[in-house]
Amino acid sequence: MTSNYESWELKILTNSQFHKLNQTDKFKYIVQFGHLASSTHNTQPWAFKQKDDSIQIYLDNSRVLPASDIVGRQACVSIGCAIGNLITAAKSYGYFSSLKWEINGDKIPTQRYILIATINLGKSKIDKVSLKYLPAILTRRIERRRHDVSKDFSVSFYKSLNQILSSQNEIDSRIWHRGDPRIHLVAELQSQADTYVANSAKFSKELADWLLPNKTKKFLGMPGSTFNLTDTQTDEVIEGLANKSKMHADSLARFSSSGKKGIESAAIIAMLTVSKQSIKNWVSVGIVLSNVQNLVEMHGGGLAVHAGLAEVTLVRMSLSAMGMTMTQPVILFRAGIRDQATPRLPQAPRLPLDQVLL
Ligand SMILES: Cc1cc2nc3c(=O)[nH]c(=O)nc-3n(C[C@H](O)[C@H](O)[C@H](O)COP(=O)(O)O)c2cc1C
Repeated sequence: MTSNYESWELKILTNSQFHKLNQTDKFKYIVQFGHLASSTHNTQPWAFKQKDDSIQIYLDNSRVLPASDIVGRQACVSIGCAIGNLITAAKSYGYFSSLKWEINGDKIPTQRYILIATINLGKSKIDKVSLKYLPAILTRRIERRRHDVSKDFSVSFYKSLNQILSSQNEIDSRIWHRGDPRIHLVAELQSQADTYVANSAKFSKELADWLLPNKTKKFLGMPGSTFNLTDTQTDEVIEGLANKSKMHADSLARFSSSGKKGIESAAIIAMLTVSKQSIKNWVSVGIVLSNVQNLVEMHGGGLAVHAGLAEVTLVRMSLSAMGMTMTQPVILFRAGIRDQATPRLPQAPRLPLDQVLL
């Protein structure tokens, strides 16, 4: 049986090894990088189809979270993360031709599989920047722990970050650096959002369904270990969220203060915003997010996403005001240098590849 962590064993091929593959194997190889992308609650809401020499990317509607992602925005950002990785992989092998959008508007159609975009493959120049980022896709994971407060990223990191943040039309951003008093406000909002989730029946039930025991064999969802929870704490949080038992005070405190403390330890907090809510713009936010994630990974950093903040209307409005922007936040993330003294938390499972191929 395929193990739920097998996808992470992917090996980087040399350029000549890659180009010896036939068309279908090239497609499958590139798709594996897309499949390692981040997704909301680790829902992996994507499906890929080979069409001649192109990759069609679909949203799997059955994995859009009904409680925390009513309009499907976070699922679309997740699709963008996969597309970002696919483009990085294709460009690394001089095999990217173009990205074609297949969808308009801001309402997700009702059918199960919705075609979002097509990546046309084909011989191109090897993109050296993408090639540099490629290994990061294999080691990256969300880092929900605190960052090293004594360190910051390098000047070259910030130069690349600015390039990535301005790479997609329609996507704007705001960055707050360590020491900016607004970070404490964001941290406080996060703590309130977490308490709200723990107290709201519909959100907490959904989270309980997607939070997994640490030794899980499941392919979808988030093991508690990725939240820095022990086996026992994870079981308590799952049961507590599902309202089966009272959550142990320590576990609840650890769960709802970790986001706040993480934000307060970050070197940067960034907000990705759009001038207009649309599926295409949400996906573009994901493309930017995945590129930032790989950059952070390459520079010894860790990144955590705080999506809940952008999904609560009132909080979203105060974030816009803090950023002094008329544009609307879609995602907020924090990043900082990883504490090298502690071992990294584990990666999250993935579905076997054949389950995301159409
Ligand atoms: C659009 C999006 C929204 C997310 N929102 C949150 C969030 O609000 N809180 C959180 O702890 N993680 C969040 N995550 C991180 C996912 O839970 C994580 O990507 C997933 O569990 C898979 O883990 P990996 O990225 O380490 O592979 C989000 C990720 C994405 C792409």
